[in-house]
Amino acid sequence: MDVVSSKPNICKRLEGKVALITGAAEGIGACIARVFVYHGAKVVCVDINKKSGQSVCDELGPENATFIYGDVTDESDMEKAINTTIEKHGKLDIMINNAAVSDEPIPSITDTRLSDFERVARVNIAGVYLGIKHAARVMIPTQTGCIINLGSISGRIGGITSHAYSSSKHAVVGLTRNAAAELGKHGIRVNSLSSHVVLTEPSRKFFKMDENGHSKVYTNLNGMILEPEDLANAAVFLASDESRFMSGHDLMLDGGFTVTNPAFGLFSRL
Ligand SMILES: NC(=O)c1ccc[n+]([C@@H]2O[C@H](COP(=O)([O-])OP(=O)(O)OC[C@H]3O[C@@H](n4cnc5c(N)ncnc54)[C@H](O)[C@@H]3O)[C@@H](O)[C@H]2O)c1
Repeated sequence: MDVVSSKPNICKRLEGKVALITGAAEGIGACIARVFVYHGAKVVCVDINKKSGQSVCDELGPENATFIYGDVTDESDMEKAINTTIEKHGKLDIMINNAAVSDEPIPSITDTRLSDFERVARVNIAGVYLGIKHAARVMIPTQTGCIINLGSISGRIGGITSHAYSSSKHAVVGLTRNAAAELGKHGIRVNSLSSHVVLTEPSRKFFKMDENGHSKVYTNLNGMILEPEDLANAAVFLASDESRFMSGHDLMLDGGFTVTNPAFGLFSRL
């Protein structure tokens, strides 16, 4: 391969690509939609929040972005969203399973409710499963495609968030690996994108962050706050041809958090 001539256009790294993003009305999903359009992609934003979802798409322009109402836990909604994308754009290159919910920060499992556990599992696991299933349905015939599932540091280690959320994010990594194992024969890449706490409405609430995003949440990379744009930029890399040999990978944006055990404190004692 000619390394120089194959260099991607740095400005438009997703030119000509079509992406469907779930949970794109707010937070990280909305940011991914904005950054993807900046890089030349056409985006389809799927969410249960009609008002915010439509407003993100209006801001990006009808030539670049389309809003479709859809609940990721409803198979007919997901089927319809994918089919509408194909009718409008003729293809689906990138599927981003981003929509998720969390439950309350309840300190003891004995006080948690099964109904909350099932609600989180339904959106965060079954929703991702349906997204992968229906994206694969239209990607397999073209023998190409890229699926990105949003994970979390709490899908790598324990003790960060609720039992429901943590186990759902571990499941996302498992689904990613299993789907990558199956879909590789069709040229479809499946990866997850996991991160430390990002400044969005639910995380501010859950971790009781102040206006500037400061909280007691431990971070290994001091003085830096993870922003939605950091995840969107990593998603551009995973979605672009620059990562064409990456599949089954859990890309971790955590500033070294999950590979560090601060309890031992070797470097703070030196
Ligand atoms: N914010 C963080 O600290 C953080 C850290 C690591 C991973 N993540 C992951 O990033 C992703 C986005 O998180 P966020 O902080 O932007 O959340 P958010 O709440 O700001 O956005 C989530 C979006 O998903 C939508 N949604 C919820 N349930 C849905 C359903 N059933 N069907 C369709 N849409 C639905 C919501 O309406 C909302 O627009 C999630 O997968 C989350 O687990 C977030």
